Amino acid sequence: MEQTIRVELSETLKEKPKTDQLEFGRVFTDHMFVMEYTEPLGWHNPSIVPYQPLTIDPSAMIFHYGQSVFEGLKAYLTSDGDAQLFRPERNLKRLNRSNQRLCIPEIDEKLALKAIKELVALEKDWIPGAEGTSLYIRPFIISTEPYLGVAPSRHYKFIVILSPVGAYYKEGINPVKIAVESQFVRAVVGGTGEAKTGGNYASSLKAQEVVAKEGYAQVLWLDGVEKKYIEEVGSMNVFFKINGEVVTPALNGSILEGVTRNSVIQLLKHWNVPVVERKISIDELHEAYKAGQLEEAFGAGTAAVISPIGQLTWRKEHLVINNGETGEISKKVYDTLTEIQYGKTEDPFDWVEKV
Ligand code: COI
Repeated sequence: MEQTIRVELSETLKEKPKTDQLEFGRVFTDHMFVMEYTEPLGWHNPSIVPYQPLTIDPSAMIFHYGQSVFEGLKAYLTSDGDAQLFRPERNLKRLNRSNQRLCIPEIDEKLALKAIKELVALEKDWIPGAEGTSLYIRPFIISTEPYLGVAPSRHYKFIVILSPVGAYYKEGINPVKIAVESQFVRAVVGGTGEAKTGGNYASSLKAQEVVAKEGYAQVLWLDGVEKKYIEEVGSMNVFFKINGEVVTPALNGSILEGVTRNSVIQLLKHWNVPVVERKISIDELHEAYKAGQLEEAFGAGTAAVISPIGQLTWRKEHLVINNGETGEISKKVYDTLTEIQYGKTEDPFDWVEKV
C-alpha cells in the first residue's frame, strides 16, 4: 500500500538569497522531509516538516561510529517555469547500495522519489533561475540508536534537505588545478569507496587541506594499494582524452559510480566519440602527456557538473593540459548535459523527470 506523506507547513518563511551570489550548500529552504526507522516497525511516518534542528541523543551511534549514507541530486528550473529532476532513480538505487554496504535498512525507492518530488514542488520558489544555478537535493540517513556498542543501529532517520546552489568550485566552469595525491589514500577495494558515506569524505580532508594551501581545487586519488592507478577526484569522477580516445577509470569497488559519469559515457557513445572504462595508471597518463597525447581532462559530478582540469601536478611537475583552457569535448559535454538538465534541448535518453 502506498504510504501518504504527512505535511506540516512552516509558519514563517525565510528570505530567499540573491541568485547571482549563491555559494554551494550554505542556504537551506523552509521545509525538509523526515522518515524514521525503528524495529519492529521498519521505515515509518514519512513527513514534510518545517526545516529545523534535530534533537538527537549524544549517545546516538552516528556520532561515534559514523554509520551514515547520503546522496546528491539537483532540481532545475526550465524556461517554462517547470521544475525537473535529473535521473533521480539512479541516485536512489545508489543510496540503497550504500545502505547495503553500511548495514542500513533499505528504503522504498518509490516512496523516496515521491517524497523528493513533493518536497521540491512545495519549495519550487526556491529553485534559482540564474545560469548555472539549481536546487541541490541532499537525501541522507543517519543512525540514531542511543548505544555505544559497535553494531548496526536499530534506529535511523532518513532526511532530505534542499539548498539553492551556484557553482561548486570558485572557478565556476573554468579549468581547475588538481594535485595528484601520493601520500594519503581515499579507499581500498573491499572498503567503502564505492558507497556514498560520510567517512570517505572525512578521510579525504587532510589531503585536501594540504593542497588547498597551494591553490589546488582538489586532489586526484590513486588506488589505495599500489598508489599507481587513477581513481577519482574528491567530489567527481575523472575523464582524460588521450590521442582521440576518452578514458575513465573502470569501476573497481573503490570508485564511486557517478550518475554524471554514466551520463557522460552515454553522451560520448551517442556522438560516436571513442570512450573506454579501464584501469589507467598515473605513469601512463604522464607518458601520454610527455608524448603530447593528453588532449583534455575533466571531472564529472552532480555538484561540480563538468569541471575542466587545466593543470595536474604530479611529483612537483605541472602537467598543463590544453594550455590550461577548457577543451572541446569538456565544453560539448557540459553544454549538452546542462541543456538537457534545464530543458533547453531534447532529452533522447529520457533522463529528466518533471516534478
Ligand atoms: C555530489 O556531486 O553531489 C556530491 O555528492 C559531491 C559532494 C561531496 C559535494
